[in-house]
Amino acid sequence: MKEEVSPQKSLEILSHYIIDSYNSAPEKPMGLIQFHLKHQGKNISCYLKADGEQMTFNFGELENYDVKLTAEHYNWLDLAAGRLNPVIGVITKKLQFEGDTKVFGKLIKSNSLFKIDADISDGPTIFEKKPIQNWSRPEKVMVILGSPRGRNGYTFHYLNRFIKGLETDGASVELIELGKKKVNSCTGCFHCWKNSTGRCIQNDDVNDLYDKFHESDLIVYAFTLYWDTVPGILKNFIERAFCLEYPYMIPGLYKTRHPRRKKLDQSFFVFSVCGFPEQSHFDSVKDYFKKISHNSHIPFIGGIYRSACMFLPNDPLYYKTYNRILDSIQEAGVMLYKNGRIDKKIINTIQTRIDPKEFQLHANKYWDNVVQRKDFFVSSV
Ligand SMILES: Cc1cc2nc3c(=O)[nH]c(=O)nc-3n(C[C@H](O)[C@H](O)[C@H](O)COP(=O)(O)O)c2cc1C
Repeated sequence: MKEEVSPQKSLEILSHYIIDSYNSAPEKPMGLIQFHLKHQGKNISCYLKADGEQMTFNFGELENYDVKLTAEHYNWLDLAAGRLNPVIGVITKKLQFEGDTKVFGKLIKSNSLFKIDADISDGPTIFEKKPIQNWSRPEKVMVILGSPRGRNGYTFHYLNRFIKGLETDGASVELIELGKKKVNSCTGCFHCWKNSTGRCIQNDDVNDLYDKFHESDLIVYAFTLYWDTVPGILKNFIERAFCLEYPYMIPGLYKTRHPRRKKLDQSFFVFSVCGFPEQSHFDSVKDYFKKISHNSHIPFIGGIYRSACMFLPNDPLYYKTYNRILDSIQEAGVMLYKNGRIDKKIINTIQTRIDPKEFQLHANKYWDNVVQRKDFFVSSV
């Protein structure tokens, strides 16, 4: 269990920041600061002692000091954070100094408490902002099939045509069937961050998969909907991308994110199918991948979302629609490879609307036949 933080502990942690800042300063003045702090009615006395070489922090009271600060604990924290101006603090009696306040200013420099040496810059790139305008044909495409049934499922049934399209003009496509790989979930141990290795401590297939990921120019996440989101195996894979980033915090396009370990111009595309007929079933994954895109610095260049994926190949009355959809999916693969985008007309054909009432009627007939074990289907469940 993570213990609740005591006021003493918070002072100890703060003292580490102050000592760090003192140690990295070019000049190391001498001095002794005594603190008399109050927290929820209780007194805490502690001091910082700098001898010109090193600074130490201890609890207790000294008879001699250069300067003494008497304050509520929270007010001292506000002063250290730079949130409370010392002059205002004195005027409002939030802070009471006794002795040589110059020593205080020399030993504690709140503006340098959080300085680090590491270069953590990784701002948004031109490619991230405008991937289509800066498109060049991807040499390597990694298609991550996140539906557990792999090649035996409907995701692949449609995806196969998309891959054919991608390959038409020369893309080298590698299909990764996550269902055949060992992909554990992230255990949240932070090993990959603490050791700066960028490798996960778990001995499954994921480190190797992320090596391939880094070699790819375009990544296609292909999956079916499981309860309105990605199947668990794909979620596990995505979680493990934690390893690809440093733990530092930087501003992203519109919110905080982490810098990448490898700065590559990659993009990703989503290829998703689902059982229900309405397009709105994809809303949550569209939003999810927008967030994945931001957090991973990889632009999300588009998606194909085919609802009623089981219904179409199994309903003879939709055979024409089904074939038009398959042909358009292949055409979409060709277009994506060449231009990084797919014409709206092709997307509209792929996402041809299926009337929900008709769907329910036909799908129920299909399922009733399955339940009755009548064996005359084009594709089995
Ligand atoms: C556990 C499970 C959850 C599913 N959840 C959804 C869902 O939320 N929305 C939907 O439209 N279809 C859902 N489906 C239907 C699948 O999208 C459909 O069966 C699809 O064919 C499965 O992909 P696959 O054939 O590649 O295995 C679900 C299927 C399973 C097995």
